[in-house]
Amino acid sequence: MFTKAIVRTPGKSMVNGLTTAGLGQPNYDLALAQHAAYIETLKQCGLEVIVLPPDEKYPDSVFVEDVALLTETCAIITNPGAPSRKGEVAGIKEILEKYYGDIHEIRDPGTVEAGDIMMVGSHFFIGLSERTNMNGAFQTISILKQNFLTGSTVKLKNVLHLKTGVSYLEQNNLVACGEFLSKPDFEDFNMLKIDDDEAYSANCIWVNNKVIVPKGYPKAKQTIEQAGYSTIVVDVSEFRKLDGGLSCLSLRF
Ligand code: GLY
Repeated sequence: MFTKAIVRTPGKSMVNGLTTAGLGQPNYDLALAQHAAYIETLKQCGLEVIVLPPDEKYPDSVFVEDVALLTETCAIITNPGAPSRKGEVAGIKEILEKYYGDIHEIRDPGTVEAGDIMMVGSHFFIGLSERTNMNGAFQTISILKQNFLTGSTVKLKNVLHLKTGVSYLEQNNLVACGEFLSKPDFEDFNMLKIDDDEAYSANCIWVNNKVIVPKGYPKAKQTIEQAGYSTIVVDVSEFRKLDGGLSCLSLRF
């Protein structure tokens, strides 16, 4: 169970965030409203939400999940692979020092964005992507080992981050689409398959027995509900325009 989440209010500069989506620029006012609704949903799931102020220097800094990996015992500050995102780590380190005594950092030449890391109990799957390299993954696994946790790497082909295409919902249930449906790494899970036309919804989040799903993906919602979960729908259309999803918008711990 999680008790807290960290989020960062989007800055106006978010409209210049990195993107491959081809969906146009986000509407800033709508993004702010969606972000506020997202925070309310996390609260509804029982979390205390720590809201960081906008950081205009970094257009993608609303996607706080990428800059830290939080476990029960330690925090790992990542080293984003996207050059424009590297400076985001300073702002997150400061806040994590309030909650963690054991904080590690990924160093060059290693790069990691924690959107590439999926926690399954005490094991962490690490996607090797354009943002997370092998050196960064090995540094992460070494830190996890020191904390009696384990990690393994998963090669990615078609997605930005690992959790763009796969989400763990506890109880051995994995929501997955595309390349993740056939990866040997995940063959022991109960697969909740997401169709290609709803691929964006593969990024959903389990929070204390509820599953937050993005608005507009009815088949995925039904699949998740049929697996026994109650869902909460949140509209994140403006973050989708920046290749961002529900998980990237918070650090849950
Ligand atoms: N726009 C989010 C990212 O590319 O990291």
